[in-house]
Amino acid sequence: MNPLPMGFLTLSIYLTFSFSLFHLTHPLCHNNERSALLQFKQSFLIQDIDQTPSWNLEENSECCSWENVICNEDTGYVIELYLTGLQGSINSSSTLFNLVHLQSLDLSYNDFSYSQIPSAIKNLSKLSYLDLSSSNFSGQIPSEMLELSRLESLDLSGNNLQLQQPGLRSLVEKLTKLKELDLSGINISSPTLNSLANLSSLTELSLQDCQLQGKLSFLCVRFNL
Ligand SMILES: *[C@@H]1O[C@H](CO)[C@@H](O)[C@H](O)[C@H]1NC(C)=O
Ligand SMILES: *[C@@H]1O[C@H](CO)[C@@H](O)[C@H](O)[C@H]1NC(C)=O
Ligand SMILES: *[C@@H]1O[C@H](CO)[C@@H](O)[C@H](O)[C@H]1NC(C)=O
Ligand SMILES: *[C@@H]1O[C@H](CO)[C@@H](O)[C@H](O)[C@H]1NC(C)=O
Ligand SMILES: *[C@@H]1O[C@H](CO)[C@@H](O)[C@H](O)[C@H]1NC(C)=O
Repeated sequence: MNPLPMGFLTLSIYLTFSFSLFHLTHPLCHNNERSALLQFKQSFLIQDIDQTPSWNLEENSECCSWENVICNEDTGYVIELYLTGLQGSINSSSTLFNLVHLQSLDLSYNDFSYSQIPSAIKNLSKLSYLDLSSSNFSGQIPSEMLELSRLESLDLSGNNLQLQQPGLRSLVEKLTKLKELDLSGINISSPTLNSLANLSSLTELSLQDCQLQGKLSFLCVRFNL
């Protein structure tokens, strides 16, 4: 028997083995993103220990395997984050805004204690999914939010928010990729039906209890377009 195929076989087994071993032992997680995640979570009180995941605090722990954190398998950047049950205020200095590769962020059901939505939200420019519902935000929705031009799904319902300056019209002009929009409970100034007509990709719109006035009050129901 020719020894060459045998040697070749051994070599390929060896290469395959070391390649898998490399992937098993080489952490995906980027150090700066791991510390951003930890600092973000540690800047709050935990309201309900059962709801909020506990993360491994050991140095070099693989943050991509933490509960409610998803990384891109090739780059190791955090692309999805879901956290609930936190309590405390948030501002533009939060390390959350270092996670610039996020595509999906769900911070619903936290208590941000009447914080405004920080203008640094614009740092998360790759977001296509953003859920900040029922999180005790207050004040005017910042114009920086309208820079998140990749948003396809946006839920700001259940907060004490206002959409006045900028208003609904600017939102509709800027966030043209929206498919799902929930602004229930938000104080919206004089919207026009024309503005909504510009959201051509919209499939779901919810504007319950928005203090809309006049002719458009019929919009304060849930639409499944
Ligand atoms: C932002 O919040 C942190 C605590 O979370 C606080 O130390 C800092 O002073 C705040 N910055 C501003 C500008 O309010
Ligand atoms: C926003 O992102 C840039 C990098 O793109 C980073 O240098 C900066 O610190 C971020 N801002 C905040 C508030 O995290
Ligand atoms: C919202 O935040 C304010 C100020 O911290 C607090 O008094 C109120 O109880 C919070 N509401 C909810 C529903 O968490
Ligand atoms: C909505 O916002 C306007 C302008 O800030 C204010 O005058 C009005 O009282 C608000 N409505 C409610 C129900 O909070
Ligand atoms: C609709 O969008 C077009 C351009 O995309 C803009 O010129 C127009 O003013 C918008 N209409 C409304 C009512 O927002």
